[in-house]
Amino acid sequence: MAEAGIIDGKGIAADIHKEVIAAVAEMKAVGKRVPGLAVVLVGDNPASKAYVSTKTKRCAEAGFHSMQIDRPASTTREELLEIIRGLNADPSIHGILVQLPLPAHIDEQEVIAAISPDKDVDGFHPINAGKLSIGLPGFVPCTPLGIQELLIRHKVRTSGAFAVVLGRSNLVGRPAAQLLSQKGPAGDATVCIAHSRTRDLADLCRRADILVAAIGKAHFVTGDMIKPGAVVIDVGINRIDDASAKNGSRIVGDVDFEAAKKIAGAITPVPGGVGPMTVAMLLRNTLQSALQHQAK
Ligand code: GUN
Repeated sequence: MAEAGIIDGKGIAADIHKEVIAAVAEMKAVGKRVPGLAVVLVGDNPASKAYVSTKTKRCAEAGFHSMQIDRPASTTREELLEIIRGLNADPSIHGILVQLPLPAHIDEQEVIAAISPDKDVDGFHPINAGKLSIGLPGFVPCTPLGIQELLIRHKVRTSGAFAVVLGRSNLVGRPAAQLLSQKGPAGDATVCIAHSRTRDLADLCRRADILVAAIGKAHFVTGDMIKPGAVVIDVGINRIDDASAKNGSRIVGDVDFEAAKKIAGAITPVPGGVGPMTVAMLLRNTLQSALQHQAK
């Protein structure tokens, strides 16, 4: 059997960056304010630091007004809410992203709810989550939106397909399942959300035409859990020890890629699959927000 086609998230994300850059140039040409994104990082989680620095770098490359606010892990709830109130009122800012996870003493849901829904480019605010669940336009979380875009641009047929989403998080699994089941492009699938309590998980996965792995466990999906010809979307970013690597570790997905590519019809690699799409969709959501604010 032929090996799976690789779904090139890095290449597709680069195309989207170019589209965003062109849109920003057009905004500048007609005298509009460029999109502005504020990223707030509390604490010094190394993975969060790395994600945030990629996000602000890509924003700057796209010609955005980009602001990064770093605060220590000791920041209080009140201090963080005050920062958000300031950003909500700042006309140069169209998107506000508070990097998660937050330190344990801060209630994440309270912070998310404090972000103005029309600047919530992460799509985590209950208003935007609610809009997605009833099919109204709003901000959609960047990673599931990136998966939808990969499926569209890779011309994956989702209509009538059986899709299994492994993971029920608010960030990825739940919204990804909603997008796959809604009417329209990259939708119309029959969707099942599976999780740690799902019975006969391997059997269920083996029935999936589209398998989205978002459980955060390295190599959780083995080759025997994949239906021949299935489309496999790997959302995992897991660091594992690797004595042969320069720094003693490397990043792998939730799927055993080497085994899966011999069985799947198409698969996203890690790195270079879903990851770059998350950042591309953040830029697109921020651009959308800027255009909506300026149309008011
Ligand atoms: N932490 C991991 N992924 C994300 C994301 O997409 N947005 C935010 N705000 N935090 C995250």
